[in-house]
Amino acid sequence: MKSRFDGKEFRTVLGHFPTGVVIISGLDRADNPLGLTIGSFSSISLDPPLVGFFPGLNSKTWPAIAESGAFCVNVLSVAQGELCWRFAKETEGRFEGVKWSASPLKSPMIDGSVAFIDCKVESSAQIGDHLFVVGRVHGLHLVEGAQPAMVFSKGSVVGTSPLS
Ligand SMILES: Cc1cc2nc3c(=O)[nH]c(=O)nc-3n(C[C@H](O)[C@H](O)[C@H](O)COP(=O)(O)O)c2cc1C
Repeated sequence: MKSRFDGKEFRTVLGHFPTGVVIISGLDRADNPLGLTIGSFSSISLDPPLVGFFPGLNSKTWPAIAESGAFCVNVLSVAQGELCWRFAKETEGRFEGVKWSASPLKSPMIDGSVAFIDCKVESSAQIGDHLFVVGRVHGLHLVEGAQPAMVFSKGSVVGTSPLS
C-alpha cells in the first residue's frame, strides 16, 4: 500500500474502477445545446428521486448549463464512442451533426443514447477540486431496443462489461 503517490498514480489506480459514461446536456442562455462527458454519475436516492455527478472546478461547460437550472443525463451506448471523446476533448462544435430532441425540461436528448434522465439542479457543493452536483429527477425515458450501455475502464471504452 502506497501512502505517497502522484496524480498519475492516482489516476491509474482509480482508472481500474469501471464506470458507465454519460453526457450531461443542457442549454446556455441563448438556447444553444451544451454537453460534457462524465463518468462520475450515480443514482443517489429514490424518495426523493436524486442523482449526482462530479464536474471539475475547471469545467467550462457545466457552469453554463447550471445557470439554466436544468440538465439531462444521456446514458451512452457502446456505439457512441466517438461522442464520448468529442464531448471530452473538443471545445467547439460538440453538437455539430448530432441529432437530438428537447426533453420536457428543454435539455438535449442525444439520439442513440440508452436512457435519458431529465433533472433540475437540486444542490451543488465544492468537494476538493470538483463540484458535487445533485439533480432532482423530473422525468425518465428508456429507449426501446437501444444498444447496450458503454463501460469505460483503464482509459478505454470496453463495451458492456469487462467480461463481455
Ligand atoms: C469517460 C470519461 C469520463 C469523464 N468523467 C469526468 C467526470 O466525472 N468529471 C469531470 O470533471 N470530467 C470528466 N471527464 C473529462 C471531461 O469530459 C473533460 O474535462 C471535458 O473537457 C469537460 O468539458 P468542459 O471543460 O467543456 O466542461 C471525463 C472524460 C471521459 C472521456
